[in-house]
Amino acid sequence: MTIKSKSQFKRVLLKLSGEALQGANGFGIDPVVISDIANEIKEVHAMGVEIALVIGGGNIFRGLAASTQGMDRASADYMGMLATALNSLALQDALERIGVATRVQSAIAMQELCEPYIRRKAIRHLEKGRVVIFAAGTGNPYFTTDTAASLRAMEIHADAILKATKVDGVYNKDPNKHKDAKLYDKLTYLDVLKEGLGVMDSTAISLCMDNNMEIHVFNLTKKGNIKRVLQGQKIGTIVSKKN
Ligand code: GTP
Repeated sequence: MTIKSKSQFKRVLLKLSGEALQGANGFGIDPVVISDIANEIKEVHAMGVEIALVIGGGNIFRGLAASTQGMDRASADYMGMLATALNSLALQDALERIGVATRVQSAIAMQELCEPYIRRKAIRHLEKGRVVIFAAGTGNPYFTTDTAASLRAMEIHADAILKATKVDGVYNKDPNKHKDAKLYDKLTYLDVLKEGLGVMDSTAISLCMDNNMEIHVFNLTKKGNIKRVLQGQKIGTIVSKKN
């Protein structure tokens, strides 16, 4: 297998879970972890890839979990969106401290903190080499940050979604609970939907399916993996139209 030093994609949407930022604390933002992630992003950015980011908010607040405990789902989801904005600002700071120009755009107006989401402006920022961080999900309750990632990926004409997780890719069952869980290297959108595989929620997967947006699921906790995916190395799981 030849390993390319250049990226197979020109523009990607990198989806990070909020939990990726929490490190061993189990809550909030770990300064060492966020700085490691920022350094990895800097490295791949230096390959000339245009990078947009969507970060979840689960390290601070989980809207769905709160709603199952009786909170109104819409209120809980709005709180979750604010959590993604906190993470976005933290990652912006971590990236800019190491010299990566960024712009945060929010789906919910918070003019004093960041720019509003304007699709054409986001594309312009990417063309100018800025990392664009999309905060506050889609701005709507009942939609996850995975759906926000799919939507924004479509809107900015990304070549692929890179979905960072804590495990090596998509398994037939939870690898943390089952030792014999099988890792898939390729799946179709329909496989994911039919088998109910927990890659992304069904809204996000359907959106990708309808618009033929490839999803690369990989383990963020292994250093250098974002680069490996971009170089086309065979790690993780690719979800696409064809198996
Ligand atoms: P160009 O037009 O390509 O030069 O992009 P730019 O982002 O550098 O220009 P602009 O003058 O729009 O932004 C300058 C700075 O102000 C950037 O750091 C933006 O993120 C920030 N900025 C722009 N609009 C807003 C806004 O509505 N709210 C906040 N808080 N910051 C903004």
